Amino acid sequence: MSAATPPTAELHVHVEGTLEPEMVFALARRNGIALPDSSVEELRARYRFRDLQSFLDVYYANMVVLRTAEDFRDLAAAYLDRCAERGVRHAEIFFDPQAHLSRGVPMEAVIGGLGAALDDSEVSASLILCFLRDEPAESAAEALRLAEPFLDRVVGVGLDSAEVGHPPSKFAEVFRRAHELGLRAVAHAGEEGPPDYVREALDVLGVQRIDHGIRALEDPELVARLRRERIPLTVCPLSNVRLGAFPELAAHTLPRLLAEDLLVTVNSDDPAYFGGYVDDNYAAVRRELGLGTEQLRELAANSFRAAFLDEPRRAGFLAEVEAWQR
Ligand code: HPA
Ligand code: ZN
Repeated sequence: MSAATPPTAELHVHVEGTLEPEMVFALARRNGIALPDSSVEELRARYRFRDLQSFLDVYYANMVVLRTAEDFRDLAAAYLDRCAERGVRHAEIFFDPQAHLSRGVPMEAVIGGLGAALDDSEVSASLILCFLRDEPAESAAEALRLAEPFLDRVVGVGLDSAEVGHPPSKFAEVFRRAHELGLRAVAHAGEEGPPDYVREALDVLGVQRIDHGIRALEDPELVARLRRERIPLTVCPLSNVRLGAFPELAAHTLPRLLAEDLLVTVNSDDPAYFGGYVDDNYAAVRRELGLGTEQLRELAANSFRAAFLDEPRRAGFLAEVEAWQR
């Protein structure tokens, strides 16, 4: 465990967002796929994003190299190896099956490959199946139907991709079905979209956590509700800066969210694209926002409070956080 960052749970990471440029090239070679860029440096030079959509364009394009169960296993194994090195004790990992089904990759290869990496890892981990909100609701329902034989690997469903113009209510039916199947539910809301999307995700989709949620601060009544109901927010500081929500990290509202006594956590989102893994996000908020040891401890404790863990395991992890740097 790194001394600089507390033991933590990562609750907001897209496994496709852990695809490092080096692995893009290695998998392209293995699968005989021609890439538009001729080098890792050329690809990385295109990682300058104005907003969510300009990031998503590169994120989806790079996925062409992910074809087989082995590819998905190697991707998740590399992420989990990093977790083990960097003090992440538990991870709830998003994946975007529709982005693979649409390219002819079967659900079994996606969940089977990711699941094999989870089985082999010393880090506790589970999967969250995300629906693409800029695709039709019927496509989400089809993805969930195809995943049904493999749900022993999956702890919950989520909602991601381009937010504005795609309110949570569009997915009421498929989230109802997910609840029937005994799955947990989370949703990206209030990243670029308005505070009303956060409210809809809670009221219409019945989610137990909000991913991002930073725009909730524009609505004091919503802030009061998030505090009262102890709704976790999975905040991703480096992502928010790279996608233009804040001009620089020093302007991030994480300290305000903490001061409002909200159940805030720190996460990496898409670490291969946004300049750092979860420990880098902790280091950055310590450095640029002046957060002290006790605030970092609170963030890490929140990550285990917000995780989909059974109570004995949650208590064990919380004891580790409490003992950190004592
Ligand atoms: N927001 C929405 N969708 C995403 C993101 C994100 O930050 N990363 C991958 N898919
Ligand atoms: Zn995200």
